[in-house]
Order: sequence, then structure tokens, then C-alpha cells
Amino acid sequence: MRNSNVFFKDVLGEIKKIEKIPEQGCTSEVSMIVTGDGTYILKSAFKEKYREWLKLEAEVLESLYFQRPIPVPRFYGFTEEEHASHLLMSFEEGITLTAALRNAGTNQEKRRLIRSFGLFIFQLHNQEPVFKTDSDWLETQLKRARKYAESGQADGSLELLEQLIANKPEHVKQTMIHGDCTTDNVLVVDGEVRIFIDVAGMTLGDPRYDEALAIRKFRHNPELVSAFYEGYTRHRVTDDEFRYFEKGLYEFF
Ligand SMILES: Nc1ncnc2c1ncn2[C@@H]1O[C@H](COP(=O)(O)OP(=O)(O)O)[C@@H](O)[C@H]1O
Ligand SMILES: [Mg+2]
Repeated sequence: MRNSNVFFKDVLGEIKKIEKIPEQGCTSEVSMIVTGDGTYILKSAFKEKYREWLKLEAEVLESLYFQRPIPVPRFYGFTEEEHASHLLMSFEEGITLTAALRNAGTNQEKRRLIRSFGLFIFQLHNQEPVFKTDSDWLETQLKRARKYAESGQADGSLELLEQLIANKPEHVKQTMIHGDCTTDNVLVVDGEVRIFIDVAGMTLGDPRYDEALAIRKFRHNPELVSAFYEGYTRHRVTDDEFRYFEKGLYEFF
């Protein structure tokens, strides 16, 4: 980590404080850096698969730097060393939706948070595409899934993968998606979901994947599911579609 600070020295200037943040994800190590004129987040990855993802995340953030309709952290730099990659971005206020739901005192507060999550994803899916692609998102994901399964980097088996290839859901229009749209990967400010983080998978893709991952934690609570769909009013995944994405494709990522 000390090395990466050298790489980012021109951006950061004198560092006053650097510390690992309490809430860590599963693919990276995240630190907060305080300098004379700002607060930053340094996200570092060490495993090959996660270094690739971090690079994608850097590319997404960089290309969204001047396009602000989609709320994401600001990109400040990306660097690759022999055994690690590092992404420097803006520190954003807020707590993850997972933490906000855990802290919520009442059911009503939970419903409000989840409605706001639904609306936030609705806005992303209705957004003019910012990235262009000619390829079919699901095809690309299935190819990546095979690569991970064959190299022992996935929970999903090759048998499951064959089932997913043979039983693709009916095609829907591709939209902007987050690509790992769980309650861990959005931040809440003042009781509302305000910003996407962990955006390596943000691209033009299948909106049902976001929808399935978004509702996975409260799928069996009808009250919370209906709160979600008060905000997310464009589509409802069927049980089969939910299974395909959440119990199927997600096993490889
Ligand atoms: N730009 C940011 N501003 C503030 N906190 C952040 C930022 N990026 C990440 N975090 C914090 O770090 C945690 C892990 O980050 P995340 O990008 O989700 O990593 P992972 O890919 O390992 O899941 C998040 O839950 C959040 O608490
Ligand atoms: Mg995450």
C-alpha cells in the first residue's frame, strides 16, 4: 500500500491520515486517506480475478467522470503493481444499504429505504445508455462464467453453466445496469439511496440481473418486496427469472 501512495502522490499531496475502513467488501481492501484538502478512498485488490474487476471499475469511473447523471464516486487514479492493483476515488458520505437496514428501528423505516432503492435502480435502468455495445450481455457473462468455472474461480459448476446456456430467459431490452446490485453496493444518505459503489459491472446489460440481486435479501418478505416495487415500476422478475439470475448466473461471480 505504501507504494501506491507514491504513485498517487501528485493527486494526494501530503497525507495526514490513512486507515482501513471498518466495513470491508469481499474482493478488496479499502482505506480512507485524509489529506490537507480532501478525503479519498483507496481500493486495492490482490487476486488476479479481483484485479481484473478493479481495472474494469476504474474504467467505468473514469468514463463517468464527466457524465454525472449516474451517481458514482469520482475517479482519481488507477495503478498496477506486480502483486496488487489500486484505485483511488472520492470518499463518499453515507453507509451501505445493508447497514442502514440493519440500523433501521422500524419496519416503516425499512420500507422507505427499500422503496428508495427501487426508485434508484429504476432511474438507472431508464437512463439513456452511456456506454455503447454491440454484444449481447448475457452471452458475454456466460463466456466469463465458463472461464471462471474452468479455472476454479467460481462457486458454480460446469453442469450448472450448461443448464444456464440451455435455458436462457426470453430476451428483454438491454439497459444501463449496475451489474452487482446488492444492498452492499449502494450508499444511503439521509434515509435515501444516493450513490452506486463497486461499479465494475456497470454496462449495458440485462436489467433483470440487477432486479434479482436487489431483492435477494428480502425476497421472502412480501411487505418489503412490495415496497421495492413501489419505487421500481418498470418490470417484475418472475420466479423463474429470479432463479436463473440469483441462483444461477450469480454463482459464477
Ligand atoms: N467511494 C467510497 N466512499 C465511501 N466508502 C466506500 C467507497 N467505496 C467503497 N466504500 C466502502 O468500502 C466497502 C467495500 O467497497 P466495495 O467497492 O463494495 O468493495 P468490494 O468489491 O470488495 O465489495 C463498501 O461497503 C463501503 O463501505
Ligand atoms: Mg461491494
